[in-house]
Amino acid sequence: MKKPIIELDAIQKYYGDYHALRGITATIREGEFFSLLGPSGCGKTTLLRTIAGFEGLSSGVLKIDGRDMAGVPANKRPTNMVFQSYAIFPHLTVEQNVGFGLRRDPRSRDDKARAVAEALAMVGLAGYGRRAAHALSGGQRQRVALARALILKPKVLLLDEPLSALDKKMREQMQVELIKLQRQVGITFILVTHDQEEALVMSDRIAVMFEGQIAQLADPETLYRRPNSRQVADFIGTMNFLPATILSETPDRIEVEVAGLGRCAIDPAQAPGAVTGGPASVGFRPETLTILYEGQVANDRETGGTVEEVVYFGDMTYYDVKLDGVDQPVRLSMRNVFGRPVLDIRTRTRVAWSPGALVLFR
Ligand SMILES: Nc1ncnc2c1ncn2[C@@H]1O[C@H](COP(=O)(O)OP(=O)(O)O)[C@@H](O)[C@H]1O
Ligand SMILES: [Mg+2]
Repeated sequence: MKKPIIELDAIQKYYGDYHALRGITATIREGEFFSLLGPSGCGKTTLLRTIAGFEGLSSGVLKIDGRDMAGVPANKRPTNMVFQSYAIFPHLTVEQNVGFGLRRDPRSRDDKARAVAEALAMVGLAGYGRRAAHALSGGQRQRVALARALILKPKVLLLDEPLSALDKKMREQMQVELIKLQRQVGITFILVTHDQEEALVMSDRIAVMFEGQIAQLADPETLYRRPNSRQVADFIGTMNFLPATILSETPDRIEVEVAGLGRCAIDPAQAPGAVTGGPASVGFRPETLTILYEGQVANDRETGGTVEEVVYFGDMTYYDVKLDGVDQPVRLSMRNVFGRPVLDIRTRTRVAWSPGALVLFR
């Protein structure tokens, strides 16, 4: 296991009366691509700025590379930040922008020029040094901002929604490039994003935040497959919920009765959340249900239903299906296969499902 680079222990932050961070405890490891994911206003930027040293803590302990950061100003921390807006100087050239942080560096002019060229090559802007920054596209400006941050060789790069101003195509391209870049330079990246897809695609681990707290901290697959609350499940991807009744429980199995699906036994690992005492429900992802065409049999369990809505995406079709015995339709997704027809609304169908794909919330 890699050593911790950022240690957050019971971090609290007040803005006046407003309680922005409510006890954040987490450890981020060296070389990790770590994301802070949550809706607007949940405290992501505040947490990033406290790590950077732009905001003080109200209480708690923040260590970077084993050192307590209390009283250490931002410019003395081994961190650097890339902002959402292109915080570059439009009147300077690309290389002047990238070299900006080196202006007090004692290295020779040639050495600095080499470092600038290296940083530009790293972000895919080799040969752009002499261009005027204002003449660059949004994606290119963000690369300049990245090169400018990387040239200072921080131990941790903090990225506050760096791609959110880009259009979808450019954003997806930059996501892939950022992952490659992080692997290449090997330093810790902490990315703030409100885009769950972006977090899933890019991160080794993700902290999902709501209202100043971390609701779940896990790798993308765990967050997707075993969300620990309905709130997390709802925030990440699409999750269907059906009411459930717990019939019996032992340390190795929980028996539930699920509306529309019937009785089944699940593993306790499928109930990763805390017991809240509210009404129980099960969640399952659209791709864990499968339409059975004529002659097909379920691998596991099957139930009947009626197609209520069809949304065609080309490679995929989403169906809203009213399972027999439930009022609320569930959404399922099918990969479209050449030669197999898309079902019409009101078609009676059989649906395959598996108890192993359920998540129990209670
Ligand atoms: N300087 C500030 N003074 C007062 N309240 C602030 C300040 N900065 C942020 N907040 C409040 O703290 C909460 C969290 O903000 P922020 O960390 O920017 O959220 P996010 O980045 O997740 O959208 C918001 O309700 C915001 O209005
Ligand atoms: Mg923010």
